[in-house]
Parts: sequence; structure tokens; C-alpha cells
Amino acid sequence: MTGGAGYVGSHTVDLLLRSGRDCVVLDSLEFGSRKAVPTTVPIVVGAIHDQHLVRRICARYNVDSLIHCAAYKSVSESMNHPERYFANNAASGNQLFDAVAGAGVRTVVFSSSCSVYGTPANVPVTEDEPTLPESPYGESKLMTERMLGWYDRCRQMRSVSLRYFNAAGASFDGHIGEDWMVSSNLVPIVLEAVLERRPPVKVFGSDYPTADGTAIRDYIHVVDLAIGHLRALEYLENQGSTITVNLGTGVGSSVLEILRCTAAVAGRPVPYEFAPRRVGDPACVYADNRRARELLHWQPSYGLDDIISSAYQWHASARSPFA
Ligand code: WQD
Repeated sequence: MTGGAGYVGSHTVDLLLRSGRDCVVLDSLEFGSRKAVPTTVPIVVGAIHDQHLVRRICARYNVDSLIHCAAYKSVSESMNHPERYFANNAASGNQLFDAVAGAGVRTVVFSSSCSVYGTPANVPVTEDEPTLPESPYGESKLMTERMLGWYDRCRQMRSVSLRYFNAAGASFDGHIGEDWMVSSNLVPIVLEAVLERRPPVKVFGSDYPTADGTAIRDYIHVVDLAIGHLRALEYLENQGSTITVNLGTGVGSSVLEILRCTAAVAGRPVPYEFAPRRVGDPACVYADNRRARELLHWQPSYGLDDIISSAYQWHASARSPFA
């Protein structure tokens, strides 16, 4: 598994272990933390494009499947540094796929993103919605999905590309969570603000065509995402064909709803102020998750309250970020 020391990766490793699966983690630790990986799981610190290293790992640990989570994931940073995103997310991904295919791996679960849709014309968003990414981040994820299609046709390596919506929340036992030092996403920002560790939340836009004027997203618990990876692995092990799948709850929540839910969990109001819209932000995005339900036998188990309460427990604990 690549990126197993990161946010979604570490929750996926945790679930794999609990499910009796063996795994080995390859992570550069550029953003991940070694403390997020259980001591019982081998972790190799290195680059996913180091084909010699990847082949050695595959041989030593008898790797038969790949879960590829390692990537840069900031939409805004990718607008300033497209070269980093195409190199790390697309070109290095290709090096990785080539190396594992050469080592006999024939099944891949790939961490993709709803960012491949850009601003969708229709909500809820189905997998057949046109893919018109609006950032090098989203483009790099789409490029990787398309590469995987060719690895199936030319090298018989089947894959499931999981299009995450807004990942949020933390493990329910509080031992892992999102490293808010490296995240610019809404939920960690709101939790840090309610804990008075950072300035009031800037709500980007209050004039969207939504019920309360603030933008809507599909926030999905990171444990639900982890379960989606296991279901995707099982689907491929049962000879499933290459597909792309949305992983979202199918429920949209506005920024103000996130603030209200956080205030209720924390028992005090979240300091915030309205600010201009953020360039490139769609008004409303949430998933149609029928394909995940039908083909992966997956459905979301957790809602907004679970997301915010688990995130609050994580941020309020001494553990975050892996102190
Ligand atoms: C959410 C909402 C902001 C910060 C993310 C990931 C992307 C992909 C899709 C996985 C928006 C608003 C935010 C703040 C705010 N997921 N906001 N004030 O842009 O939906 O994209 O999910 O691949 O990787 O980035 O997430 O958390 O940045 O924003 O008002 O300080 O919160 O405008 O409506 P986004 P986000």
C-alpha cells in the first residue's frame, strides 16, 4: 500500500489489519507520519517511482495487490505548482504501476477524486458525468485513471478508481486522524478554530444559490472511505472488471451546517466571518453512490455527527497531529 502513513491510507491500513489482511506500506513520509502506521505493519520509507525498491518490496512481501493512496492533494497548491502534481501524481504513478505489473500484481485500488468532475453540471454526480477537471490536481487524478484503463487493456492489470468526495473525521478510538498541520480542508480548519488554535473560520461565500447561501459538499467519514477500499479489493479478487466508483454519502451539507454541527459537539459557537467566494469553488457537489452500492456492496455507515464528533475527539486529544 502506498501512502499508508497518510490520512486515508492509515485508516485503510487499520481496517485491513482488523480484517485479517497482511499489508506493507511504502511511504516517503513527506506528509505522512510513521506513528500513524501500527508497529506490526512493515513500513518502507521511499519513493513510489523507485522501481527497483518497488520490485524488491513486491518480491520480499509476496505482494499480490496494490492500494495506491500516495499523492499530493491540494487543489490550490496544484494551481501554483502544476509540475509537482503531474510529476508526483501522474508520472510517478506510472512508474509504480509499471513496477508492480512487472512483479506480477494484477489488481489495483486507486485513490482518485471527485475533483475529476470539476464543476459538475448535474447533482447528485454520477460516474457518467463529464470529467472536466479545473485544477492540475484533478487533472493528474484523471490522467492516472486513464493510464489504469490502458494497463488493463495492455497488461491485464484490473483496477478500481475510487473517486473520493470530501474525506473528513477520524478513527473512533482516536488513535489516528487528519494531520491538520498539512490540511487546508474545511473540517480541520473549523475544529482548530472552535478549539481557539487558529483565527476565526473564513466562510468563502454567502451568496451561493443554496438554502443558506453557503456552498454544499458531500462529507464522507474516512472510515467509510477505508471500508470502500476493502470492498474494492474484494470486488477485484472476485474477478471484477476495471471501473471508476464514487465514494460519497449522497448527502450534501453546507458550510454553515458544518459550523452548526461543530458548535453542538463542542458546546460552544465556532468563531467565523464571511469572506468572498474562493475562485473555482462549485456551489454544490454531492455524490450519486449507486454504483458503489451495487458493485462494491458498499454503503456509508456514518453521517455528519459521526464525522464532526470523531474529528473533535481527535483535534482535542494530545495525539493530533501525532504529538
Ligand atoms: C469545502 C468547502 C469551501 C475552507 C476537497 C479536496 C479535494 C477533493 C474534494 C479528495 C468549500 C469551504 C473551505 C475554509 C470555507 N477530495 N471552505 N472556508 O474544495 O470541496 O475539495 O474535496 O480528493 O481533494 O480538496 O474541500 O475542504 O477545501 O472546501 O468556506 O477555510 O468549504 O469553499 O465550499 P473542496 P475544502
